[in-house]
Formats: sequence, C-alpha cells, structure tokens
Amino acid sequence: MARTPVSVTVTGAAGQIGYALLFRIASGQLLGADTPVRLRLLEIPQAVKAAEGTAMELDDCAFPLLDGVDIFDDPTQAFAGANVALLVGARPRTKGMERGDLLEANGGIFKPQGEAINAGAADDIKVLVVGNPANTNALIAQQHAPDVPAERFTAMTRLDHNRALAQLAKKAGVSVSDIKKMTIWGNHSATQYPDLFHAEIAGKNAAETVNDQDWLENTFIPTVAKRGAAIIEARGASSAASAASAAVDHVHTWVNGTAEGDWTSMAVVSDGSYGVPEGLISSFPVTTKDGKWEIVQGLDIDGFSRGRIDASVNELAEERDAVRKLGLI
Ligand code: NAD
Ligand code: LMR
Repeated sequence: MARTPVSVTVTGAAGQIGYALLFRIASGQLLGADTPVRLRLLEIPQAVKAAEGTAMELDDCAFPLLDGVDIFDDPTQAFAGANVALLVGARPRTKGMERGDLLEANGGIFKPQGEAINAGAADDIKVLVVGNPANTNALIAQQHAPDVPAERFTAMTRLDHNRALAQLAKKAGVSVSDIKKMTIWGNHSATQYPDLFHAEIAGKNAAETVNDQDWLENTFIPTVAKRGAAIIEARGASSAASAASAAVDHVHTWVNGTAEGDWTSMAVVSDGSYGVPEGLISSFPVTTKDGKWEIVQGLDIDGFSRGRIDASVNELAEERDAVRKLGLI
C-alpha cells in the first residue's frame, strides 16, 4: 500500500527561494524517493495568485510523489497537520529600516506562525526557519509554541556550512566530499564563525593541512560570513537556489541522519553547551539520528575560536533582548 503523504508547509511560497525549493521537495529530494508529499503553501493575500501559478507548474511536472498542493493565506490553516514546516517568508530589510524595525516586522510574522504550529501541527512537526534574521525568527516562533518540544525549532546555517565546504575544497584542491566535520557556530549573519580547527580533509585536521592562518582569518572566514552580501551585490537579489538547496540538505540530514564520522551545522536551541546561553537558537556542530539531533560534545575550543564564538553568540543575545523589549517573546 502507498505510504501516507507527509505534509510539508512552506511559507513565502511565491518568493524566489520558494520557486527553487518547491520543485525539489515535490521531486522527492527532501524526504526521499519513497515518500509522497502534500504541499501546503502559505503566502500573504497579495501573493496568493503567484503561488497559484507555481502550483500550476508543479502540476505540470507530473511528479509521481506529489500528492497535492493547497494554498493558504491563513497560518492556522496552512500549518494544520504539518509534519515539516519550512518558514521561508519574511519581511526583507528595506531602505531606512533599522535592525529593530526588521525584528519588529518579523515578529509580526513569526509570532502568529509559532502560535499556529502550536495549535495544529502534527505531533512530529519539524520546523526549519530560513527567513532572516533566521535564528531570532526561530526563537520567536518557538517561544509561541509552548506545547511543541523546543528542539523541533531550528534555523538554517547549512548554507553557510556548504559555502565553507566549497571555499575549503577550492583552497585545498580537494573535493567537498573529502571534507568532514565542518562547523558553523553562532548566528546566520556576518558574525558567524566557520571553524576549520575541527574540520578534517581526508581524515587530517583541516587547519593544519591548509597551514595558512592569514588565509583562514583574512580570506576564508570573511568570504564565508559575507557571502550572502556578495551574492546580493552580484545578482542584485539574495541567494535563492543555493538557499533552497541548503534547506533541502538541512531537513534531509535531520530526517535521515548524519554519516558515521561526520556532523553538520544546524542552529538549534542551546542547552548551555560550549558556553552558549541556554535557550538561544545558535549554530552548533550536530549529529542526527532517527529524526533527532544532538550537539557534538567535548570539542576543545582554543582562544581564537572562543573569541569568535562569543562575538556571534553575544549578537544573538542582543537580538533576543531586542525582541524581548518589543514584547515579541
Ligand atoms: P522573497 O522576497 O523573494 O520572497 C519572500 C516571500 O515571502 C514573498 O513571496 C512574500 O510575499 C512572502 N511573505 C512575506 N510575509 C509572509 C507571511 N507573513 N506569510 C507567508 N509568506 C510571507 O525572498 P526570498 O529571496 O525567497 O528569501 C526569503 C527569506 O530567506 C529572506 O528573509 C532572506 O533574507 C532569507 N534567506 C535566508 C538564508 C539563510 O541562509 N538562512 C539564505 C537566503 C535567504
Ligand atoms: C544569505 O546568506 O545568502 C542571505 O541570508 C543573505 C541575505 O541577507 O538575505
């Protein structure tokens, strides 16, 4: 008998990431080639028509795994029965907007979405927040879903992780598949810390193999951390296909597990590991198994890494304090 379809809710479905993401989900790349999916798209009323156009194209692909597409402009309906929720839709920063304004505008989106997930999502709901500022938006949604275990709310740093793999592979003249144990620590922002001291190239320490502290500090870290801005500068629009690809990777790894001897980067609710204040949604090295994640424990953090991690985590704490002041959590 055919398997019951998994309900996947995608917000911001008519946006540019949505356009790259939905076809990959419907083709089976998110959950696997034997898992049918039912897509539930959430958009603002003005963008519902565009989402309908995307749904027509999804029909036209005749994906065998696509059980159907429903479109909503109401979060309560969109998240009802959702097993996986990809929170992509967010308010972009516009001219003259301060960070506080952006946090406030997004609070207006992620608070009701958290409440809707709390009210009606399936018991096994897994949430990935992509919309920026992703870590703090995830925190807002999580804080408004008290009946959902906090560990089900995650934010995306897999794009940063993949960017770090690509930059290191180029520098070392290896394939990305030769690299293991890459870590992004902290916030999905320019303060993030891509860590080569625990990464390995063909089983050997990556920082020692590269042996170029100047490149690591002055090229690698800023290139990865500011890649989003470089893409905006070059394309005139923020990353979309690579962001969608990272979202697929994030959920696929969460559901299917990390490979033996490797880990991934996910922004998850801190339990106080590595001095990151409990409750902040910060990126860590994590392993996944049977649909659950665990923070990798016992890594030695040297002074250089400590300073970088602290700087990014301090920024997360400031964002949390700002949304608290705004009454959003
Ligand atoms: P976009 O502007 O093309 O699309 C966003 C869509 O969200 C729009 O269609 C809009 O109508 C919709 N939307 C707005 N408010 C909504 C709401 N309340 N409910 C449902 N839908 C809503 O943007 P995009 O390029 O697709 O990017 C989406 C977000 O992802 C942005 O915040 C961007 O900064 C972020 N992003 C994150 C990463 C990451 O690595 N975490 C990477 C790239 C982009
Ligand atoms: C990215 O990392 O590509 C995006 O988060 C950049 C942005 O600011 O939208």
